[in-house]
Amino acid sequence: MLSYPEKVMINDEIIDSENAKISVFDRGFLFGDGIYEVMLHMGNQLLLGEEHFQRLNASLIKTGIEMDTASIPGKIDRIIEAAGLQGQECLIYLQVTRGIAPRTHTFPVEATPTLMIYALPYQIPPIEERDLQAITTPEIRWSHCDIKTTALQGNVLSKEQAKQQGCFEALFVREGIITEGSHSNVFFVRNNVVYTHPANNFILNGITRLAVLDICHELGLTVIEEGIPASTLPSMDEAFLTGTTTQVAALRKIDEHVFYKGDSKGTVTRKIQEAFSQLKTRSLEVSV
Ligand code: PDD
Repeated sequence: MLSYPEKVMINDEIIDSENAKISVFDRGFLFGDGIYEVMLHMGNQLLLGEEHFQRLNASLIKTGIEMDTASIPGKIDRIIEAAGLQGQECLIYLQVTRGIAPRTHTFPVEATPTLMIYALPYQIPPIEERDLQAITTPEIRWSHCDIKTTALQGNVLSKEQAKQQGCFEALFVREGIITEGSHSNVFFVRNNVVYTHPANNFILNGITRLAVLDICHELGLTVIEEGIPASTLPSMDEAFLTGTTTQVAALRKIDEHVFYKGDSKGTVTRKIQEAFSQLKTRSLEVSV
Protein backbone atom coordinates (compact mmCIF):
# COMPACT_ATOMS: atom_id res chain seq x y z
CA MET A 1 0.00 0.00 0.00
CA LEU A 2 1.36 3.42 -0.93
CA SER A 3 1.32 5.97 1.84
CA TYR A 4 1.99 9.64 2.38
CA PRO A 5 5.07 10.67 4.33
CA GLU A 6 4.43 11.97 7.87
CA LYS A 7 6.39 15.16 7.34
CA VAL A 8 7.22 17.32 4.34
CA MET A 9 9.83 20.03 4.08
CA ILE A 10 8.82 23.02 1.96
CA ASN A 11 11.74 25.39 1.47
CA ASP A 12 13.12 25.42 5.02
CA GLU A 13 10.00 24.52 6.94
CA ILE A 14 8.97 21.06 8.16
CA ILE A 15 5.20 20.55 8.09
CA ASP A 16 2.79 17.66 8.81
CA SER A 17 2.07 16.25 5.37
CA GLU A 18 -1.70 16.87 5.55
CA ASN A 19 -0.97 20.58 5.99
CA ALA A 20 1.74 20.79 3.31
CA LYS A 21 0.35 23.15 0.66
CA ILE A 22 1.82 24.95 -2.34
CA SER A 23 0.39 27.92 -4.26
CA VAL A 24 -1.66 27.16 -7.38
CA PHE A 25 0.66 29.69 -9.07
CA ASP A 26 3.71 27.54 -8.44
CA ARG A 27 5.22 26.82 -11.86
CA GLY A 28 5.58 23.18 -10.94
CA PHE A 29 1.77 23.01 -10.81
CA LEU A 30 1.11 25.28 -13.83
CA PHE A 31 3.80 24.06 -16.24
CA GLY A 32 5.50 21.00 -14.74
CA ASP A 33 8.40 23.48 -14.62
CA GLY A 34 10.55 21.65 -12.10
CA ILE A 35 13.09 18.90 -11.61
CA TYR A 36 13.46 16.15 -9.03
CA GLU A 37 15.60 13.37 -7.57
CA VAL A 38 14.77 10.06 -5.90
CA MET A 39 17.50 8.68 -3.63
CA LEU A 40 17.93 5.88 -1.13
CA HIS A 41 19.19 6.58 2.36
CA MET A 42 20.83 3.59 4.03
CA GLY A 43 22.65 3.54 7.36
CA ASN A 44 23.53 7.16 7.78
CA GLN A 45 24.10 8.22 4.23
CA LEU A 46 22.65 8.50 0.76
CA LEU A 47 23.43 5.62 -1.56
CA LEU A 48 25.50 7.10 -4.42
CA GLY A 49 24.69 10.54 -2.98
CA GLU A 50 27.47 12.38 -4.75
CA GLU A 51 26.27 11.14 -8.14
CA HIS A 52 22.65 12.10 -7.35
CA PHE A 53 23.76 15.63 -6.40
CA GLN A 54 25.80 15.95 -9.59
CA ARG A 55 22.70 15.07 -11.61
CA LEU A 56 20.52 17.39 -9.50
CA ASN A 57 22.90 20.26 -10.22
CA ALA A 58 23.00 19.33 -13.91
CA SER A 59 19.17 19.34 -14.10
CA LEU A 60 19.09 22.78 -12.45
CA ILE A 61 21.66 24.16 -14.89
CA LYS A 62 19.92 22.65 -17.95
CA THR A 63 16.58 24.18 -16.91
CA GLY A 64 18.03 27.51 -15.77
CA ILE A 65 16.58 27.14 -12.27
CA GLU A 66 18.91 28.93 -9.91
CA MET A 67 19.33 27.21 -6.57
CA ASP A 68 22.36 26.58 -4.41
CA THR A 69 22.15 22.92 -3.39
CA ALA A 70 24.90 23.09 -0.72
CA SER A 71 22.37 23.23 2.13
CA ILE A 72 20.25 20.32 0.86
CA PRO A 73 22.16 17.43 2.56
CA GLY A 74 21.58 19.14 5.95
CA LYS A 75 17.91 19.55 5.08
CA ILE A 76 17.66 15.87 4.20
CA ASP A 77 19.09 14.99 7.63
CA ARG A 78 16.51 17.25 9.27
CA ILE A 79 13.55 15.72 7.43
CA ILE A 80 14.77 12.20 8.22
CA GLU A 81 15.00 13.12 11.88
CA ALA A 82 11.58 14.79 11.88
CA ALA A 83 10.09 11.67 10.30
CA GLY A 84 11.78 9.50 12.95
CA LEU A 85 13.66 7.54 10.30
CA GLN A 86 17.26 7.96 11.50
CA GLY A 87 19.34 4.86 10.81
CA GLN A 88 16.50 3.25 8.83
CA GLU A 89 16.39 2.57 5.13
CA CYS A 90 14.31 5.22 3.46
CA LEU A 91 13.54 6.84 0.16
CA ILE A 92 14.16 10.55 -0.26
CA TYR A 93 12.02 12.47 -2.74
CA LEU A 94 13.26 15.97 -3.56
CA GLN A 95 11.90 18.44 -6.08
CA VAL A 96 12.70 21.98 -7.10
CA THR A 97 10.35 24.12 -9.18
CA ARG A 98 11.01 27.52 -10.70
CA GLY A 99 8.79 29.03 -7.98
CA ILE A 100 5.62 31.07 -7.68
CA ALA A 101 4.82 33.84 -10.17
CA PRO A 102 1.95 35.22 -12.31
CA ARG A 103 1.41 32.79 -15.20
CA THR A 104 3.46 33.43 -18.31
CA HIS A 105 5.71 31.04 -20.22
CA THR A 106 8.93 33.02 -19.92
CA PHE A 107 11.05 32.83 -16.77
CA PRO A 108 9.67 35.06 -14.01
CA VAL A 109 11.93 37.98 -13.14
CA GLU A 110 11.46 37.62 -9.42
CA ALA A 111 10.68 34.14 -8.19
CA THR A 112 12.33 32.01 -5.59
CA PRO A 113 12.53 28.30 -6.48
CA THR A 114 10.32 26.05 -4.37
CA LEU A 115 12.10 23.14 -2.70
CA MET A 116 10.13 20.16 -1.43
CA ILE A 117 11.64 17.12 0.32
CA TYR A 118 10.19 14.12 2.11
CA ALA A 119 11.43 10.80 3.43
CA LEU A 120 9.47 7.54 3.27
CA PRO A 121 10.31 4.24 4.97
CA TYR A 122 11.49 1.86 2.26
CA GLN A 123 12.70 -1.70 2.48
CA ILE A 124 15.45 -2.40 -0.01
CA PRO A 125 15.74 -6.08 -0.88
CA PRO A 126 19.37 -7.34 -1.02
CA ILE A 127 18.69 -8.63 -4.52
CA GLU A 128 15.62 -7.82 -6.57
CA GLU A 129 14.05 -11.26 -6.98
CA ARG A 130 10.89 -10.19 -8.78
CA ASP A 131 10.11 -11.73 -12.10
CA LEU A 132 9.27 -8.71 -14.24
CA GLN A 133 7.65 -8.25 -17.62
CA ALA A 134 7.71 -5.24 -19.92
CA ILE A 135 6.05 -3.99 -23.07
CA THR A 136 7.58 -1.86 -25.80
CA THR A 137 5.72 1.29 -26.73
CA PRO A 138 6.33 4.20 -29.13
CA GLU A 139 8.21 7.12 -27.54
CA ILE A 140 5.75 9.88 -26.74
CA ARG A 141 8.01 12.12 -24.63
CA TRP A 142 10.05 15.19 -25.54
CA SER A 143 13.70 15.10 -26.58
CA HIS A 144 15.34 16.28 -23.35
CA CYS A 145 14.97 13.01 -21.48
CA ASP A 146 18.37 13.62 -19.87
CA ILE A 147 16.70 16.22 -17.62
CA LYS A 148 15.00 14.72 -14.59
CA THR A 149 11.90 16.82 -15.12
CA THR A 150 8.75 16.60 -13.00
CA ALA A 151 6.77 16.84 -16.28
CA LEU A 152 6.23 13.10 -16.55
CA GLN A 153 2.92 12.72 -18.39
CA GLY A 154 4.45 10.65 -21.20
CA ASN A 155 6.02 8.36 -18.60
CA VAL A 156 2.74 8.16 -16.66
CA LEU A 157 0.63 7.27 -19.74
CA SER A 158 3.12 4.60 -20.83
CA LYS A 159 3.52 3.03 -17.39
CA GLU A 160 -0.28 2.84 -17.07
CA GLN A 161 -0.42 1.12 -20.46
CA ALA A 162 2.09 -1.46 -19.16
CA LYS A 163 0.08 -1.96 -15.99
CA GLN A 164 -3.13 -2.51 -17.99
CA GLN A 165 -1.31 -5.36 -19.73
CA GLY A 166 -0.11 -6.88 -16.45
CA CYS A 167 3.46 -5.61 -16.97
CA PHE A 168 5.85 -3.71 -14.71
CA GLU A 169 7.50 -1.43 -17.23
CA ALA A 170 7.01 0.23 -20.62
CA LEU A 171 10.14 0.46 -22.76
CA PHE A 172 10.20 3.40 -25.15
CA VAL A 173 11.01 2.83 -28.82
CA ARG A 174 12.28 5.88 -30.70
CA GLU A 175 12.81 5.40 -34.44
CA GLY A 176 12.99 1.64 -33.97
CA ILE A 177 15.51 1.79 -31.10
CA ILE A 178 14.78 0.82 -27.49
CA THR A 179 15.87 3.75 -25.30
CA GLU A 180 14.77 3.30 -21.67
CA GLY A 181 11.79 2.53 -19.46
CA SER A 182 9.19 4.93 -18.05
CA HIS A 183 11.07 4.97 -14.73
CA SER A 184 14.15 2.82 -15.30
CA ASN A 185 17.03 2.17 -17.69
CA VAL A 186 17.24 -1.06 -19.65
CA PHE A 187 20.17 -3.35 -20.41
CA PHE A 188 20.45 -6.37 -22.72
CA VAL A 189 22.95 -9.22 -22.87
CA ARG A 190 23.91 -11.22 -25.97
CA ASN A 191 26.82 -13.67 -26.02
CA ASN A 192 28.06 -12.21 -22.70
CA VAL A 193 28.22 -8.70 -24.19
CA VAL A 194 26.17 -6.06 -22.36
CA TYR A 195 24.21 -3.48 -24.38
CA THR A 196 22.58 -0.29 -23.14
CA HIS A 197 21.50 2.95 -24.80
CA PRO A 198 24.17 5.69 -24.68
CA ALA A 199 23.66 8.53 -22.22
CA ASN A 200 22.42 11.13 -24.69
CA ASN A 201 19.30 13.32 -24.64
CA PHE A 202 16.99 10.34 -25.27
CA ILE A 203 17.51 8.76 -21.84
CA LEU A 204 17.90 9.76 -18.24
CA ASN A 205 21.44 8.79 -17.29
CA GLY A 206 20.44 6.70 -14.28
CA ILE A 207 22.65 6.66 -11.21
CA THR A 208 22.02 2.91 -10.97
CA ARG A 209 22.89 2.64 -14.68
CA LEU A 210 26.24 4.32 -13.99
CA ALA A 211 26.91 2.00 -11.02
CA VAL A 212 26.09 -1.01 -13.21
CA LEU A 213 28.47 0.21 -15.92
CA ASP A 214 31.24 0.37 -13.28
CA ILE A 215 30.29 -3.12 -12.11
CA CYS A 216 30.47 -4.47 -15.69
CA HIS A 217 33.93 -2.94 -15.97
CA GLU A 218 35.03 -4.56 -12.68
CA LEU A 219 33.61 -7.91 -13.82
CA GLY A 220 35.51 -7.65 -17.09
CA LEU A 221 32.32 -7.64 -19.16
CA THR A 222 32.33 -5.96 -22.55
CA VAL A 223 29.77 -3.16 -22.69
CA ILE A 224 28.50 -1.59 -25.87
CA GLU A 225 26.66 1.66 -25.24
CA GLU A 226 24.39 1.39 -28.22
CA GLY A 227 20.61 1.29 -28.38
CA ILE A 228 19.33 -2.02 -29.70
CA PRO A 229 16.66 -2.12 -32.42
CA ALA A 230 13.36 -3.48 -31.06
CA SER A 231 13.39 -5.93 -33.97
CA THR A 232 16.51 -7.64 -32.51
CA LEU A 233 14.86 -8.42 -29.15
CA PRO A 234 14.49 -12.13 -29.98
CA SER A 235 18.27 -12.40 -30.48
CA MET A 236 19.04 -11.20 -26.92
CA ASP A 237 19.84 -13.72 -24.17
CA GLU A 238 19.01 -11.56 -21.16
CA ALA A 239 17.41 -8.23 -20.30
CA PHE A 240 17.30 -6.29 -17.04
CA LEU A 241 16.16 -2.94 -15.66
CA THR A 242 18.03 -0.55 -13.40
CA GLY A 243 16.75 2.28 -11.22
CA THR A 244 16.82 3.63 -7.68
CA THR A 245 13.58 1.93 -6.71
CA THR A 246 13.82 -0.92 -9.23
CA GLN A 247 17.47 -1.72 -8.30
CA VAL A 248 18.73 -4.34 -10.80
CA ALA A 249 15.74 -6.39 -11.89
CA ALA A 250 15.70 -9.24 -14.40
CA LEU A 251 13.14 -9.09 -17.19
CA ARG A 252 11.53 -12.42 -17.89
CA LYS A 253 9.54 -11.24 -20.87
CA ILE A 254 9.30 -8.26 -23.23
CA ASP A 255 6.19 -8.23 -25.44
CA GLU A 256 5.95 -11.83 -26.68
CA HIS A 257 9.63 -12.65 -26.24
CA VAL A 258 10.43 -14.83 -23.20
CA PHE A 259 14.04 -14.59 -21.91
CA TYR A 260 13.79 -17.30 -19.28
CA LYS A 261 11.33 -19.60 -17.59
CA GLY A 262 11.13 -20.59 -13.92
CA ASP A 263 14.32 -19.79 -11.96
CA SER A 264 16.72 -19.92 -14.88
CA LYS A 265 17.47 -16.16 -14.82
CA GLY A 266 20.47 -15.21 -16.97
CA THR A 267 23.92 -15.62 -15.44
CA VAL A 268 25.19 -12.15 -16.38
CA THR A 269 22.14 -10.50 -14.77
CA ARG A 270 22.64 -12.62 -11.66
CA LYS A 271 26.34 -11.65 -11.41
CA ILE A 272 25.53 -7.96 -11.77
CA GLN A 273 22.77 -8.23 -9.17
CA GLU A 274 25.19 -9.83 -6.70
CA ALA A 275 27.83 -7.16 -7.33
CA PHE A 276 25.21 -4.43 -6.85
CA SER A 277 24.12 -6.03 -3.59
CA GLN A 278 27.78 -5.99 -2.43
CA LEU A 279 28.06 -2.33 -3.39
CA LYS A 280 25.11 -1.59 -1.06
CA THR A 281 26.66 -3.62 1.76
CA ARG A 282 29.97 -1.79 1.36
CA SER A 283 28.22 1.55 1.41
CA LEU A 284 26.44 0.56 4.67
CA GLU A 285 29.75 -0.46 6.26
CA VAL A 286 31.32 2.89 5.36
CA SER A 287 28.39 4.80 6.88
CA VAL A 288 28.54 3.27 10.40
N1 PDD B 1 13.12 6.99 -11.82
N2 PDD B 1 14.92 6.55 -16.55
C1 PDD B 1 13.84 7.21 -16.08
C2 PDD B 1 12.88 7.79 -17.07
C3 PDD B 1 13.63 7.34 -14.69
O1 PDD B 1 12.57 8.01 -14.22
C4 PDD B 1 14.56 6.75 -13.80
C5 PDD B 1 14.41 6.86 -12.31
C6 PDD B 1 15.67 6.07 -14.33
C7 PDD B 1 16.73 5.43 -13.46
O2 PDD B 1 17.48 6.42 -12.80
P1 PDD B 1 18.15 6.15 -11.38
O3 PDD B 1 18.93 4.92 -11.50
O4 PDD B 1 18.98 7.36 -11.15
O5 PDD B 1 17.04 6.00 -10.37
C8 PDD B 1 15.83 6.00 -15.72
C9 PDD B 1 12.90 7.37 -10.45
C10 PDD B 1 13.49 6.48 -9.45
C11 PDD B 1 11.42 7.53 -10.23
O6 PDD B 1 10.87 8.49 -10.68
O7 PDD B 1 10.82 6.68 -9.61
